[in-house]
Amino acid sequence: MKIAIDGTAASGKGTLSENLSKALKLPRLDTGLLYRKLAFLYIKSKKLTPYQNNVDNTSLKNILKDFDLNDLDPETLKSDLYGNFASIIGKSNFVRKKLKILQIDFVKNMNKKKGGCILDGRDIGTEILPNADFKFYLDAPLETRAKRRFEQLYSHNKSIELKNILLDLEKRDFNDKSRENSPLIPSKDSILLDTEFLNPNQVLKKALKYIKKFK
Ligand code: DC
Repeated sequence: MKIAIDGTAASGKGTLSENLSKALKLPRLDTGLLYRKLAFLYIKSKKLTPYQNNVDNTSLKNILKDFDLNDLDPETLKSDLYGNFASIIGKSNFVRKKLKILQIDFVKNMNKKKGGCILDGRDIGTEILPNADFKFYLDAPLETRAKRRFEQLYSHNKSIELKNILLDLEKRDFNDKSRENSPLIPSKDSILLDTEFLNPNQVLKKALKYIKKFK
């Protein structure tokens, strides 16, 4: 079984993906971590200071030559600095092409070994797994998502401000939805889940109910 989960930043797609992975005993790939790892390696190689947004395609292409799915550590990659830069480099066609190859390899491998997998990201239902058995698209109002993200990050960083998180998410949504290549949009056959008034368990229950009904 192949499951695609897409949605806006901090909509709860990662949590749903993780919970479904446990409930259905299927491996999961958080594809945002691929883009974040690339952003991390690029920023490190260029010694960029935060919020420098210029992209040197030659360096990016060099990093992609040896790029793989290892070391996708959410702790190292969780900062919004990498999330925002990931959204910027995610506009490039050559980046998406290479990362698509890695994602498809993962899917083929897991299909063979585990009978399926779950991928979450921005273009899974539309581009990576157009034939997924189930597609979910998660969203919630910007303010709700910003508060969630604030609560996640505040325990690690007491200097963060809600208004900056809100602006960051707004910018990121805009970038992800308006890019030419594989923009974030719900595919026609995806199940829309508004997570504004739902906790993670309620979102999981809704998704599982749907899967059991149509399996
Ligand atoms: O899901 P996330 O916040 O970790 O993703 C970080 C950024 O990476 C996101 O804003 C855009 C990019 N991304 C993408 O373009 N396509 C994906 N499938 C996943 C992430």
